[in-house]
Amino acid sequence: MKITLTDDAPHSLTADVLAVPVLEGALDDDPIVRALDAKLGGTLVAAAKAEEFVGKVDQAVAVNGAKGVGARRVVLYGLGRPSTLGRSEARAFAVRASRGNGITKLAIVAPSSDDDAYQGIAEGVGLGAYRYTRYLTGDRLPKKTLGEVTIASRTGKVAGKGAAKANAGHKAAVERGTVVADAVTWTRDWVNGPPNDVNALTLTAEAKRLAHAHGLTCTALDKAALAKKRMDLLLAVNKGSAIEPRLIHLKHAPKKARGRVVFVGKGITFDSGGLCIKSAKQMADMKCDMAGAALTIATLVAAARLDLPVEVHGICAITENMTGPEAYRPGDVYKSYEGKSVEIINTDAEGRLILADALAYAAEQKPDVIVDHATLTGACMVALGPYTAGIYANDDAFGSAYVQAAGRAGESVWRMPLLEELRDGLKSDVADLKHTGEQYGGSITAALFLREFVRDAKWIHLDIAGPAFLERAQGIAPKGATGFGVLAALRFLEDYDRR
Ligand code: BES
Ligand code: MN
Ligand code: ZN
Repeated sequence: MKITLTDDAPHSLTADVLAVPVLEGALDDDPIVRALDAKLGGTLVAAAKAEEFVGKVDQAVAVNGAKGVGARRVVLYGLGRPSTLGRSEARAFAVRASRGNGITKLAIVAPSSDDDAYQGIAEGVGLGAYRYTRYLTGDRLPKKTLGEVTIASRTGKVAGKGAAKANAGHKAAVERGTVVADAVTWTRDWVNGPPNDVNALTLTAEAKRLAHAHGLTCTALDKAALAKKRMDLLLAVNKGSAIEPRLIHLKHAPKKARGRVVFVGKGITFDSGGLCIKSAKQMADMKCDMAGAALTIATLVAAARLDLPVEVHGICAITENMTGPEAYRPGDVYKSYEGKSVEIINTDAEGRLILADALAYAAEQKPDVIVDHATLTGACMVALGPYTAGIYANDDAFGSAYVQAAGRAGESVWRMPLLEELRDGLKSDVADLKHTGEQYGGSITAALFLREFVRDAKWIHLDIAGPAFLERAQGIAPKGATGFGVLAALRFLEDYDRR
C-alpha cells in the first residue's frame, strides 16, 4: 500500500472515496465540510441532515461526487466527542474508511495536524484493508484491494520553513504507522494461517527471516537442545506431536537502552486438548492458540524497525498439543526447567506448562519486567467476555503502567487479582505442584501457576483467549485473528520507563 501526503484541497483529490472526519456537532462549522459542500452544490450537508448525521461515533453519510470534485464518492464519518483527537481516534476512523470492498484508491482527510493523527491513519488504513486471502482462488479472490492512500492535511498549503518541518514530522509518523500495521498484519496472518501450515518449524523460519531482514538476533532451541537444557514441561506437551517443538529467542538490543523488557508468548500451533481431548466444537478454532507467540514475534520486529530505545527480548515456546501413543498423560510427573516438579492433571491445560519453562528461561535474562501473552483459559472469557484481555501482575507499578499503555493503544484489558486463597488448589500429593486448581477461578489459578516460575522477576501476564480471535468483528477488530496485544505492547515500550 502506497501512502502519500498532500496539502492540496480535498475536493481536488482523485479517489474512489474521499473520507472526511466530522466531530459531533461540528457539521455546520467544519471548514472542510463547508468547502466540499459548496463544490457538491449543497448535496453533502443536505444528505447529512436528511440522514440525521450529526457526527456521532458510528454515523456515516455518503454522497456521489460531482463535477469539480475528484473523488467518486464523498463519505463523512462521525468521530463523536473524543477528549483527544490522537492516534487511536485517527486509527479507528481510518479503519472504518478503508474497510469497504471495492476501494482501490482512498483519499482521507487528517482529523488533526498532529503527528499522532498521521501515525493513526497509517495504522488504520493498513488494519482496515486487511483480508486473509492466502487460500482463496478464482472468484473468491477480492477483485479490488486498497493500494493507494492520500492523506490530505487540514490546513491546506502552508508556506515557509514551518511547513517543511511539519511535513517531515508527518512523513516519519506515517512510516511508524506502517511499521505498526505490518506487525498487526503479520500476527493476523500467522493466527489465521491453518495449523497444517503454521507449526513450530514454519513459525521459527518466519521469525528468523524477519529477524535477519530487520536487524534482530534470533536463536531457536530444537528438541535436542531443549532435552539437553531439561525443558521437560515443553517437551512433555510436545510428546503427542509428530512435529518437533521450538523455543525461539529474539532480541532487539539498541546501543543506548532505557531498560530491558522480556516478552514471552504461548505458541500452541494446534490445541486438540491432548488425551483430555476437546469436543469438536471446542477444538474448531484452536489454530488460534499460538496468538501469544505470533504477537511476540511481530512486536519484536516492530521494536527493531522503530528503533525503540529499550532492550527487548521475545521468547516463544512453540508446539502442538496432540494425542498419540507417546502423548503425555494425566498422572505423569515432570520436572520443570525452574526446578519444581509438576503433576499433570489435565492435558488440556498445556499452555501454562510450556509457559512455565519459557518464563523461567525469561527470568534468566535479568529483565526489568517479563510480559507474557497467552490464549490461556476459557475461564477468562467467562469472566470478561470475548473482547477484553485479563491482565495480572506481581508488581503494581508495572501492572498499572501496562493497563495505561493498553488504554492509550485502544485495547481493552482488565486487571485481575492473584487471589492467594486459590493457591492451595495447586497443591499436589505427589509433586511440588499440580497445574490446575478448583473448578472456579480458572483464569486466576492459571496465573497463580505461572507465577511459580518467574523466579524473582517482576511479571505481567495477559490472558488473551477472548480478544485474540473473534467470532464476529468488533470495533476496529475483524472477525477471526485480530492481532490483539501488539498495539499495547508497542505503546508500553514507547512510553517505557524503568520502575
Ligand atoms: N487454549 C485453551 C484456552 C482457550 C479457550 C483459548 C478458548 C481460546 C479460546 C487452553 O489450552 C485450554 O484448553 N484451557 C482449558 C484449561 C482447563 C483444562 C483447566 C480451559 O480453559 O478449558
Ligand atoms: Mn488446552
Ligand atoms: Zn491451549
